[in-house]
Amino acid sequence: MRGIILSGGSATRLRPCTKVTSKQLLPVYNRPMIYYPLNTLIKAGIKEILIIVSPERAGDYLNLLGSGREFGVQFTYEVQDKPRGLADAFIMGENFIDNENVTMILGDNIFEDDFSEAINSFKSGGMVFVKKVHDPERFGVVKFDDNKKAIEIKEKPQEWISDYASTGLYIFDNRCVEIAKSLESSERGELEIVDIQRFYLEKGELEVAMVENEWIDAGTFDSLLEAQNLAKDKLQDKLVI
Ligand code: TTP
Repeated sequence: MRGIILSGGSATRLRPCTKVTSKQLLPVYNRPMIYYPLNTLIKAGIKEILIIVSPERAGDYLNLLGSGREFGVQFTYEVQDKPRGLADAFIMGENFIDNENVTMILGDNIFEDDFSEAINSFKSGGMVFVKKVHDPERFGVVKFDDNKKAIEIKEKPQEWISDYASTGLYIFDNRCVEIAKSLESSERGELEIVDIQRFYLEKGELEVAMVENEWIDAGTFDSLLEAQNLAKDKLQDKLVI
């Protein structure tokens, strides 16, 4: 299993704090934000991790994280010249992923759960981790039938289809690279990860798992504040880095 952290983007919602630095380098209590998703991958035993960064901030990541030796893993870096969408991670990561499966996590997503079992027992297909939210229109949303089987997945639906948001953690088998390469940009100009998930869903190969404990997408000032409190109150003894 290979790991990818998607840590580029423009972070417009956190201006002016992100005018001269990257969102994922902002402090979340006592660590830079990216340590938390890194922790999720490293705790699950993933040893080879690709960190995708924006060109303006690439040097900062290298200075902060280095080779990975300090954490007992190996980091590879790729520069994403512009934010083309989450699915671009698998195109940028093609050589790095090689013939392996891949776990991708967003650099601003902070989880309390330990995903070691899901990651280590993954064999093939796709896996999405969902959480009930009060504002599903902000996320990729998964609709279930009465037997809790996923039947539809939609990015930021205008009309309500379900309260279950797809969180920023994804596991895919090696086919995700070719699927990502075949995608066309959506109306908002991005390569959408829901289009990859839909490929697996339509083949009956998309497994949906519930996120049990807290999950925060720390992309706004309010959620960043929540993340600070979660990190202080609940995450300190769960961190391995
Ligand atoms: P978003 O929060 O959707 O976008 P953003 O970080 O640019 O912020 P804003 O909406 O405030 O402008 O991105 C989710 C995560 O994915 C975040 O960690 C940034 C990362 N990302 C990339 O690295 N490359 C991309 O092409 C996109 C779309 C996001």
